[in-house]
Amino acid sequence: MLRNLASVGLIISSFAHEVKSLRSRLVPRTTFLQNELKKYISKNDLKNVKKDDNPFYMLQLIQEEDVKLKHWLDYSLSSLKRDKRKRANLNFGDYFERFKSTWSKAVEQRNVKIRLNGTKDAINIIRAFEVDMDSIFNNLLSNSLNSLKQKQSNDKFIKISWKKIDSFIEIIFTDNGIGLAKEYQKLPEEIFNSFETSKRDRKGNIIGTGLGLYIVKSIVEEHNSASIAIVNTIKGFTLKLMFPIRN
Ligand SMILES: Nc1ncnc2c1ncn2[C@@H]1O[C@H](COP(=O)(O)OP(=O)(O)O)[C@@H](O)[C@H]1O
Ligand SMILES: [Mg+2]
Repeated sequence: MLRNLASVGLIISSFAHEVKSLRSRLVPRTTFLQNELKKYISKNDLKNVKKDDNPFYMLQLIQEEDVKLKHWLDYSLSSLKRDKRKRANLNFGDYFERFKSTWSKAVEQRNVKIRLNGTKDAINIIRAFEVDMDSIFNNLLSNSLNSLKQKQSNDKFIKISWKKIDSFIEIIFTDNGIGLAKEYQKLPEEIFNSFETSKRDRKGNIIGTGLGLYIVKSIVEEHNSASIAIVNTIKGFTLKLMFPIRN
């Protein structure tokens, strides 16, 4: 599995170069096109044209999509940065603060709050690859957002708590979403297996990859003496992770 991940990493890094140049052109090019268009047609000339047939409006929509795409590319490219691929000291207090601000726009749009509960004291430091932590927590967050999306309420949160217990940092990652699907209630651990997914579209077609938690678990198991366990599956969903603290 990890060998596969490594080769995926190689492929992605070589694409990253191409993608970076595309990213820098994304937003300027629609602005450029708008300005060119204005030389020939004034916005006023089109005021009787239906909104959906108005090229200025179309360009605006394209630009909004491009901005989203750019954010997504920024985010994926930043996870490929070299310094994130070295084992280093990682303070969970600092890490989760960054994590929260990276995701702030996306969660805001979904009316979800991220709550952090822990300190930045030096005791919260482990030795880790930052990319590994990104893979773990981005996957958990993405699953939580998916569960919260299906909940009809304004009270939606994801809470991350961390504290030292013996020679470990214990992390409790929880959401108050719809909880585990019926099909997994009997044997919750199955969700860690590859291709296990309950994610379906409105017509009931399976749309999940079922790889998220499999990757999370593989990474945790590679990290010496770390562990992951399901704590609660009824009222929302809660996972507990343990990472050995730095010697
Ligand atoms: N926060 C959560 N709340 C409820 N169920 C969850 C949560 N996270 C994971 N699950 C369950 O575990 C399954 C597997 O998750 P994952 O491996 O990330 O695959 P995918 O997200 O593609 O479905 C999900 O389809 C869902 O049934
Ligand atoms: Mg997932």
